[in-house]
Amino acid sequence: MGFLGLREVVVWCILLFSIEISSGSTTRQFKWDVEYMFWSPDCEENVVMGINGQFPGPTIRAKAGDTISVQLTNKLHTEGVVIHWHGIRQLGTPWADGTASISQCAINPGETFVYRFKVDKAGTYFYHGHFGMQRSAGLYGSLIVDVGDGEKEPFHYDGEFNLLLSDWWHQSVHQQEVGLSSKPFRWIGEPQSLLINGRGQFNCSLAAHFSNGSTNQCKLGGNEECAPQILSVLPNTTYRLRIASITALASLNLAVGVMSDEHEHVKVTPEDILSDRPGDILSERIEDIAENLQTLILAKNLCGVTFYNDYNYVFSQNHKMVVVEADGNYVQPFEVEDVDIYSGESYSVLLTTNQDSSKNYWISVGVRGRKPQTPQALTILNYSPTSPSILLPVSPPTITPTWNDYDHSKSFSNKIFALIGSPKPPKNRDRRIILLNTQNLIDGYIKWAINNISLLLPSTPYLGSIKYSLKGAFDNKKPPEDFPNDYDVMKPPKNPNSTYGNGVYMLGLNSTVDVILQNANALSGNVSEIHPWHLHGHNFWVLGYGEGKFNKKKDEKKFNLRNPPLRNTAVIFPYGWTALRFVADNPGVWAFHCHIEPHLHMGMGVIFAAAVQHVNNIPNQALACGLTGKSFMNTKQN
Ligand code: C2O
Ligand code: CU
Repeated sequence: MGFLGLREVVVWCILLFSIEISSGSTTRQFKWDVEYMFWSPDCEENVVMGINGQFPGPTIRAKAGDTISVQLTNKLHTEGVVIHWHGIRQLGTPWADGTASISQCAINPGETFVYRFKVDKAGTYFYHGHFGMQRSAGLYGSLIVDVGDGEKEPFHYDGEFNLLLSDWWHQSVHQQEVGLSSKPFRWIGEPQSLLINGRGQFNCSLAAHFSNGSTNQCKLGGNEECAPQILSVLPNTTYRLRIASITALASLNLAVGVMSDEHEHVKVTPEDILSDRPGDILSERIEDIAENLQTLILAKNLCGVTFYNDYNYVFSQNHKMVVVEADGNYVQPFEVEDVDIYSGESYSVLLTTNQDSSKNYWISVGVRGRKPQTPQALTILNYSPTSPSILLPVSPPTITPTWNDYDHSKSFSNKIFALIGSPKPPKNRDRRIILLNTQNLIDGYIKWAINNISLLLPSTPYLGSIKYSLKGAFDNKKPPEDFPNDYDVMKPPKNPNSTYGNGVYMLGLNSTVDVILQNANALSGNVSEIHPWHLHGHNFWVLGYGEGKFNKKKDEKKFNLRNPPLRNTAVIFPYGWTALRFVADNPGVWAFHCHIEPHLHMGMGVIFAAAVQHVNNIPNQALACGLTGKSFMNTKQN
């Protein structure tokens, strides 16, 4: 009687198994169909990529430690699909990263692939297509991970809202793609609309009554696909806004407030203007609603100009926001009036509803970093119950900071530090990779290149070709770790010609890698763009930003090793550099690229790989294409 029979052992095992499930490690299962569908994201009907009939796709909500299982069926009929879980490190599951040609083969029409991975870290994440330009077609949604049971966030809030920001074009993604890969080149232009949670207004504006003329006031009942999602809040309450940007192109700025209704006439003298240093009241608080801003800047730049006028300045009255999270990592809280956010980034901000509760306010999102030709996205912060939700704010929305006011952007980025007690970077690096970002020509086609190589993804996913040491799947040559010393980053390239490549930076397991992203002048003179770089499979520490060409000796000494923020996306400013450090502790093959969809499509990325031999259990289905697919067929025959 003292021994258990086989039957009892089996029962006992099953019991153990189910106990394990109920004690915390929950699996959340989803069944998704991806398909094209008619939709009106900005009140104009178009075709979007939806999931289960929804746009944006369904929000995944999980707890840290949970396993997510998404059974994805491709119902696109004419193209493959994959989904990337942006910000999730995929520790131990590199085949679930959802990057076509890198971690897996695109899922064919009619086929189903199961993404199964752990979400180990609380934070604000998202998911999106990572094949061709499917992200631009609307294949995206939110992924929110709450702290695990018994854990607490290091800040308090009473409620939360999720704001997924994107940009939208009326031209189909296929047409956009053909334009980008044509000679002569056809640029996609600026987006027609900005969307908040997939909703924007193209042919009307919620704030039209404040502007004189051209745009119509929106007449929306609220049930339209393009009707704004109104945020109803209680007075004197603290909300967490989870803000994520999944734009194809636009860098954004978000503010919550109104322009002051005291339309003060401020007399500005040339002395006021010239003595106004960055950060002073004039630069920071006063926004010009007239066209006169350019004149003001001009006057500021040309000392000695006699300039005197009476301008109608208005002050923005924004709700203050306290930034507490960036890309799934806690940051040292800091207060701002508006948030700059680049594609691929996410922030959590705490907003306290401490304004006049008889009014409603605007949440406004505008374009930065490129000359805007897109109206602000708007929705309403509704103080309930004191003010009806349909009531429009009585003053116009806050004006987005001038698109090329990079000091504003830099001052925001430079305020971000890791929360005290966060993991610190290793003191020393094992390797340094310097990546020069340039715009080039290949046979007359416009491309982006990194150290003069424009990324052209191979047909066999690297994860398979490296794991099984298949010959000829990608460039064997090591990609360059630096660029020529005499390259002038302030000028267009002397020799604009570049080449395609798909070599891999092989990283030692657990080695500490520094990456210096070096920006440069594009093909035409006096143009240098913003590029938000995103790393798969890891977080990196942002050690610093700088202007001009990175100085290997001097600049390294200035790195912040004390409290640099951990992130998965960091921007390079025009003509500047950004220094990152990460530990290659995640076996797999990982993309590192500019998160601007057309830029990636034009070759702006590199591939890192670490310890692929340690990766076991890659599902065959992930590799059933290209050379790996062929080798599977051969082994079956034998
Ligand atoms: Cu969100 Cu490789 O990207
Ligand atoms: Cu870019």
